[in-house]
Amino acid sequence: MIAPQVVARDNLPQRVRIYEVGARDGLQNEKQVISTVVKAEFVERLVAAGLRTVEATSFVHPKWVPQLADAEDLIDRLQPVDGVRYVVLVPNAKGLQRALDRGVRDIAIFASVTETFSRRNLNRSVAESIEMFTPVVEQARAAGVGVRAYVSMVCGDPWEGKVPVTQVVDVATRLVALGCTELCLGDTIGVGTPGHVRALVRALIAAGIERDQLGVHFHDTYGQALANVLAALQEGVTTVDSSAGGLGGCPYAESATGNLATEDLLWQLHGLGIETGVDLHALVRTSLWMAEELGRPSPSRTVQALAASVGAA
Ligand code: HMG
Ligand code: MG
Repeated sequence: MIAPQVVARDNLPQRVRIYEVGARDGLQNEKQVISTVVKAEFVERLVAAGLRTVEATSFVHPKWVPQLADAEDLIDRLQPVDGVRYVVLVPNAKGLQRALDRGVRDIAIFASVTETFSRRNLNRSVAESIEMFTPVVEQARAAGVGVRAYVSMVCGDPWEGKVPVTQVVDVATRLVALGCTELCLGDTIGVGTPGHVRALVRALIAAGIERDQLGVHFHDTYGQALANVLAALQEGVTTVDSSAGGLGGCPYAESATGNLATEDLLWQLHGLGIETGVDLHALVRTSLWMAEELGRPSPSRTVQALAASVGAA
């Protein structure tokens, strides 16, 4: 089996939790409609490869994201697996009710640090979006449901340009104060670089956010995602988002391309001797199978490099 030579480095976490977003961030962006059966098989294969946190779908308005209009059906098809968390995106009270009705135990709300993206993505100003999230977080926490809060456009915005670190800290701390259990920094359009990531993580920790509450979510538009992950790990972050095969984008963010590919992330983490619990080759087979379903090759360099050696998809 081809695998990276393991050479550990000081001052990095021993274990990283990979938060897999392919089924949600990836498939929300596909032009063609993927059947619920294929989506369910995708999620099952992700779990079988060892992923333990899988963002499965979104309970948003089906007109806004028709690709995920089958959220109820998909959740009904997923088998509970010990230690596996299926997370769903929820924007408002209606979305939460839909999720609770399906027995979901983990949700993610999603705010923007910029006004333009907030309006485009949620039809609300930033302040109005926080107002919308307040009862959602309260009700979810009262029901014992875990709540991740995304903050998008943390490294730059396609309409507003540069985004000050202080603006990110302001929105992030307001979300955490609502009672969210986790905070995830979204570089939605992949413009961030490692110094920027370090500055953001340090500023959030200085503002009182716990290191182990923080996750990072990089789109790979400018090829910076892996470098940005390493910068975050060096600051002690241990939750990293990625998408199998590098699927992804955001239908409401201009110039958002795929997320960091989980396989590329695994190659780096395993080479550094960092445990993930994920089987790289099983995941490559899954992404090759998904690429066939989608009718185009995976953009992941690691998937491409290992395609010939991993066996049948
Ligand atoms: P709105 O039009 O302002 O909604 O949209 P509203 O509250 O005015 O309600 C209008 C109608 O929609 C009502 O129905 C509601 O019941 C219904 P009517 O009474 O007219 O028949 N409705 C819903 N139906 C089903 N499910 C719901 C729901 N909510 C209202 N949850 C809304 C506001 C938030 C709904 C809309 O803007 C929306 O759905 N946005 C979702 C956008 C989205 O999913 N974007 C992609 C995810 S974000 C992302 O990818 C970034 C991330 O990856 C991190 C990063 O990269 O940075 C997370
Ligand atoms: Mg995203």
